[in-house]
Amino acid sequence: MITDSFNRTHTYLRISLTDNCNLRCFYCMPEEEYEFSAASKLMQVDEIIALAKIFVAEGVNKIRLTGGEPLVRKDADKIILALSQLPVSLTLTTNATRLHHFVDVLKEANVQSLNISLDTLQPDKFLLLTRRNQFKEVFDNIQLMLQNNFHVKINVVVMKGLNDMEINDFIEWTKDTPVHVRFIEFMPFSGNKWTSNKVFTWQQILEVVESKYTVTRLQDDQHDTAKKYTVPGHKGTFAVISTMSAPFCEGCNRMRLTADGKMKNCLFSKEETDLLTALRNGENVLPLIQQSISSKAKELGGQFTNDFEHLHAEEIHNRSMITIGG
Ligand code: 5AD
Ligand code: SF4
Repeated sequence: MITDSFNRTHTYLRISLTDNCNLRCFYCMPEEEYEFSAASKLMQVDEIIALAKIFVAEGVNKIRLTGGEPLVRKDADKIILALSQLPVSLTLTTNATRLHHFVDVLKEANVQSLNISLDTLQPDKFLLLTRRNQFKEVFDNIQLMLQNNFHVKINVVVMKGLNDMEINDFIEWTKDTPVHVRFIEFMPFSGNKWTSNKVFTWQQILEVVESKYTVTRLQDDQHDTAKKYTVPGHKGTFAVISTMSAPFCEGCNRMRLTADGKMKNCLFSKEETDLLTALRNGENVLPLIQQSISSKAKELGGQFTNDFEHLHAEEIHNRSMITIGG
């Protein structure tokens, strides 16, 4: 078991396959000209599997693949199929632009649930937010995955003045479509133009939805990051991920592996542990994993608190989101 000093057992590993992406969401990619990592620096397929097996032997039972965009990696299908041989529930966070190439692979790998990032239902705004004109591909692929009976969660990063006025459009979408919309409070990462006044909080989101709909709270699952709700009669549901206003670190069971093989014990951790170099040198990796977890901070990487109104993004030491992997 991988247990930290607060007695939290870690059973969920998020593996970033690449820091490359075919979209350019400003809140994820840094402002400066961004250079994607050289392929030789990334974990290779056999290295991903070798590291994943070490975690699984220690009790990990859920693996999520992230990016950048995991499906831009040429060997994504190989990685998905190889990981599906392990006794884990395997899931994926994707921007959906390339999903139509992966329906069969995902079925073969017994992937049942997908998280898809989509911050607007307006094609023009999609272009503004992602700097790519691919709304149609994304929207069509969401329909395609629903037709193929995948459980589809939609990640919406809510930013004040940008898409908060679309909250009820997303709720309306859940009326006849079985998508599970998750509104995410805007979080600060290196180079992502975060300011506290752009955060639209859980409370504010609920007020908007409740101004138009009757809302019922659903039971949380253990370790859940999302507060879940339903509008009676709607086929889909919605949830709020309140990282900024009400962090949920108490029940955290998550660890991360970046595409260049560094372990992060928290999304907001300053420190990283280089597992890939150790693996390549034939060293024992497990003690490094244990050390990383034993130094995990109580909440938010030890870098801030839910008093985010007074937070300045420059005070936080971290990677940009695209190099962490969501
Ligand atoms: N704040 C909140 N969520 C973010 N994501 C990316 N950057 C941020 C941010 N700054 C989300 C995206 C994607 C997932 C990988 O992380 O919506 O769905
Ligand atoms: Fe790409 Fe997702 Fe980052 Fe947007 S949020 S740039 S889709 S990795």
